[in-house]
Amino acid sequence: MPLVEVNSVWKTYPCRAGLRTEQQTVVEDVSLFIEAGETLGLVGESGSGKTTLARMILGLVKPSRGTVLVDGIDIARASAAELHRIRRQMQPVFQDPYAALNPRMNVLEIVTEPLIIHSRDAGLAIGTGFRHRRAALRSKAVELLAEVGMDESALARHPHEFSGGQRQRINIARALALRPRLLILDEPVSALDVSVGAQIVNLLRGLQREYALTYLFISHSMPLVRYLSTRIAVMERGRLVETGEAVALCASPQEGYTRQLIAATPELPAGAA
Ligand SMILES: Nc1ncnc2c1ncn2[C@@H]1O[C@H](COP(=O)(O)OP(=O)(O)OP(=O)(O)O)[C@@H](O)[C@H]1O
Ligand SMILES: [Mg+2]
Repeated sequence: MPLVEVNSVWKTYPCRAGLRTEQQTVVEDVSLFIEAGETLGLVGESGSGKTTLARMILGLVKPSRGTVLVDGIDIARASAAELHRIRRQMQPVFQDPYAALNPRMNVLEIVTEPLIIHSRDAGLAIGTGFRHRRAALRSKAVELLAEVGMDESALARHPHEFSGGQRQRINIARALALRPRLLILDEPVSALDVSVGAQIVNLLRGLQREYALTYLFISHSMPLVRYLSTRIAVMERGRLVETGEAVALCASPQEGYTRQLIAATPELPAGAA
């Protein structure tokens, strides 16, 4: 059974057309699956519906039609307890790491917040006494930071003190806190310089191997998607136009639109990824 199964999903939004309200179709009849342990790359032009699809998988947007199953459970019909369990298993990482980080919190608070929120049911040994709990959270934060290549000197600092790449590392550390199975990576490196982005991409690759993570990796960049993905899905104006093994799809794209996307993005600079 795939970890994620999207079955004939549609999303429409009402929009004004003169005096009438019409429905604008943003995602149209999309079906796809993501196997545990793989990376599904999702590419398409701006406005093609990638983020909307990702948000439906995360359960943040409700499909107008169709179903999303995560670990076999329909997230629109899940009980509160099931939804809670599923939500812990999938974590988003968005494009703008700064917007995702609370500027008033320090890195210790940012990285451990998910643990505190879920501590009661997570069975996390973060201790009972105040002192003990603080020490346990601190060591957990140090462990998470180490996983993203940062050290404990970051703990007391705030988001604005870091570069974009480091902020994205902090974001990833936070996303890993609850040991999720699936990361929804929505253009995680688009806001970064190419070389900084390449470091983040390589970090993601290493983390995937170490923790057997499953990725949905959304990007405009065909070379990046090809570098990271097992399979690639191509979206055009809300529709899935082509899906295939990454290597085969890039070597012999079947759709004109896919060929355009491949032609539109230059190769990664040597050594960048
Ligand atoms: N809440 C909403 N209400 C109305 N329209 C929306 C809403 N969210 C998204 N849209 C529209 O849906 C379309 C697809 O948007 P979406 O953000 O999913 O595209 P995308 O592929 O992620 O684009 P980008 O590459 O720029 O991030 C756009 O036309 C957008 O304006
Ligand atoms: Mg988007």
